[in-house]
Amino acid sequence: MGLVSLNRVLLKAKEQGYAVGAFNFVNMEALQGIMDAALEAHAPVILQTTEGAIEYAGIGYLAALAKTAAETAGIDVVLHLDHGKHLETVMLAIRHGYTSVMMDASDKPYEENLSATKGVVRIAHMVDVSVEAELGQLQGIEDKVKVGEAEATLVDPDQAGTFVRETGVDAFAPAIGTSHGAFKFKGTPRLDMERLDRVASLTRIPLVLHGASSVPADIVKKANTYGAAIKGTAGVPDDIMKQAIKRGICKVNTDTDLRLSFTASIREELGKHPEEFDLRKILGPTRQAVKAMVLNRIEVFGSAGKG
Ligand code: G3H
Ligand code: 13P
Ligand code: ZN
Repeated sequence: MGLVSLNRVLLKAKEQGYAVGAFNFVNMEALQGIMDAALEAHAPVILQTTEGAIEYAGIGYLAALAKTAAETAGIDVVLHLDHGKHLETVMLAIRHGYTSVMMDASDKPYEENLSATKGVVRIAHMVDVSVEAELGQLQGIEDKVKVGEAEATLVDPDQAGTFVRETGVDAFAPAIGTSHGAFKFKGTPRLDMERLDRVASLTRIPLVLHGASSVPADIVKKANTYGAAIKGTAGVPDDIMKQAIKRGICKVNTDTDLRLSFTASIREELGKHPEEFDLRKILGPTRQAVKAMVLNRIEVFGSAGKG
């Protein structure tokens, strides 16, 4: 069928009250693990690459992998540029057939973010490419942090309403208390749900949760059993994720969970079979580990059968 636009999958998700998983990949095995899960669950899927992934693997390889996956899939597959910080990368992605881009100028002053995003929307919409943007800085809300300090980095809902109206973006990522990586909370995990409600009612478009990995304890334990040294992890619990979806989150970004399952599996295979050096014997189970993680995420998002 070929790649479809983000707009198409997210509007359906918003209407029906589920979220679509957006999974980062940097190589073929990860992409195949993601696709195997999406196909088995018949779930729509967003494949995404950061600028760092493009630098690592080359945009030609990444785009070709995603297009190959989408061609015969029979489910909706989107190829999205995650955290596009530079206009040149956004343009490069559009030229390579990405069907969605994030213009991420969230670390810039508001006016600069607004004008950069507006410019990208104008160009992207001419060629049916969707645009995501973000306001606020991703940082965890910690139990002990003073409210004022935490709120300074979170999205301002009124500003979000104006931003979405003026830019015409298709999807909006509000900072509501998550952070990227495996160490999201120091105390009890908490997201600012009231803020999310206000953003949802003032923007009325599909919302995106970054830094949304669940960081499962059993996967971290497996990695540590086979030699990793990963301590003090905390992810977004499934019940909090489900609440956020009920309140308007339609795209859930997941990278850390896949990195953890991928590397824990490699460690396990090498640890259990020290004599093995056939890549297929090591990366075959790894692909399965990624698939299992993605199936788990799809279940939480409620997107199974919606492909
Ligand atoms: O925000 C997404 C990622 O978790 C960071 O990925 O290291 O490829 O930039 P990156
Ligand atoms: P995690 O680090 O929680 O997986 O977040 C990934 C992300 O937001 C990619 O944009
Ligand atoms: Zn992100």
